[in-house]
Amino acid sequence: MSCLKIDGGKRLYGEIAVHGAKNSILPLLAAAYMCQGQTVLHNCPFLSDVEISLKILEYLGCKCERQGSTLIISPSNSNCFEIPECLMREMRSSIVFMGALLSKMGSCVMSLPGGCELGPRPIDIHIDSLTKLGAVIECNHGFLTCSLPEGIKAAELYLKFPSVGATENIILAAAVSNGTTVIHNAAREPEIEDLALFLNSAGAEINGAGSDTVVINGVNRLNGTEYTVMPDRIIAATCMMATAACKGRICLNNANKNHLIPIISILRDGGTLVDVSDSGLTVTSHFRQHNFGTVTTQPYPGFPTDAGPILVALSSVCKGTGVFIENIFDSRFHYIDELRLLGADIKTVGRVAVITGVKSLVGADVVSHDLRGGAALTVAALAAKGCSIIRKPCYIDRGYQKIEEIFGCLGADIKRTED
Ligand code: EPZ
Repeated sequence: MSCLKIDGGKRLYGEIAVHGAKNSILPLLAAAYMCQGQTVLHNCPFLSDVEISLKILEYLGCKCERQGSTLIISPSNSNCFEIPECLMREMRSSIVFMGALLSKMGSCVMSLPGGCELGPRPIDIHIDSLTKLGAVIECNHGFLTCSLPEGIKAAELYLKFPSVGATENIILAAAVSNGTTVIHNAAREPEIEDLALFLNSAGAEINGAGSDTVVINGVNRLNGTEYTVMPDRIIAATCMMATAACKGRICLNNANKNHLIPIISILRDGGTLVDVSDSGLTVTSHFRQHNFGTVTTQPYPGFPTDAGPILVALSSVCKGTGVFIENIFDSRFHYIDELRLLGADIKTVGRVAVITGVKSLVGADVVSHDLRGGAALTVAALAAKGCSIIRKPCYIDRGYQKIEEIFGCLGADIKRTED
């Protein structure tokens, strides 16, 4: 089993380009399955979740080729409309293949999706919305059987919560259809806009993505296309907060400042300098940052739940006390016990964490339990004095391409070794 070994306490200096966003690539690959020509997708890092999506595409009959960070997906002629349980259970976002398969094949069979353990993750909004678009969906013993007896029926939908995955599934299902589908209270995450831009480049007509009202004018077919995936805003946030925790100065060459406004604001309020220019972001931290007061995670454009664990890691070494409230997922605090092993002073009640910053964390042997929690432990270990071991980096590999190289090129002493 591999692990990360970190000799912490080094300041971070250097510049990096942030790789493509996992949470954008996964729905784009489901969209590529619907295209009738070849799709060329640039800026696709090697991430375990991306590789699982490619396995799903290959199972469905697509040919997938990787040339560095470019993926080339050739369309499928297969009649397969079933995804094996072993692939569905590997990650939550496998559920976006439901909209894509319904659109292309008119039916699909799949198990309920898996993914990181963050508490219950129902799919009622997906099912309710696709049903309103004409799908007949049965769920028996953890398996979903879906059909579309009369094709997609355009509809006006209101989401009771702006679910990212449900918004993506609706967009995928309605992109090729007769009529106009409108999503009210849609998720506004940048990854939704990236999906719409990709689909529009393939011939779709989608307006309003990135706002709370998305209008999908169905088209007859999607062509092949060439597209570059947006940079990963959570990786950018991780590097920015790591610099605030470790001190130093880093430049993020291609980060999109508009996607990072809550992070920039919190860092600036705490005393970290963030310069925004046309070429990217520069983060400079010379002193111990002040804690952030109270932060609650919210759907975009609020503070992102995926950056919450990293903020808690930073907060652990700030001056004063911070209160962090996780508002999106029920159970996202598994990493906090491990942060305590590194010397963090954190009390939790339900979804609330109260963090009293300590002057310095100390190296420890800790275990990742999920993707962002693992990244938070890495940031804490980079800031801690002494050596740490992070076990099960396989979770981190779901969303960060070689985290040891990301921080290694910023001057951190971090290596992947076998146990
Ligand atoms: C996406 O998950 C991301 N995953 C998550 O990133 C991210 O944390 C989340 O959006 C919120 O921003 C991908 O894009 C692959 P949701 P998703 O549907 O689509 C409830 C990471 O670390 N809900 O917006 O699953 C749900 O239980 C990951 O990269 C329902 O109740 O998120 C949760 O509490 C983890 N019914 C909340 O909504 C539904 O039908 C947000 O879920 C759907 C969701």
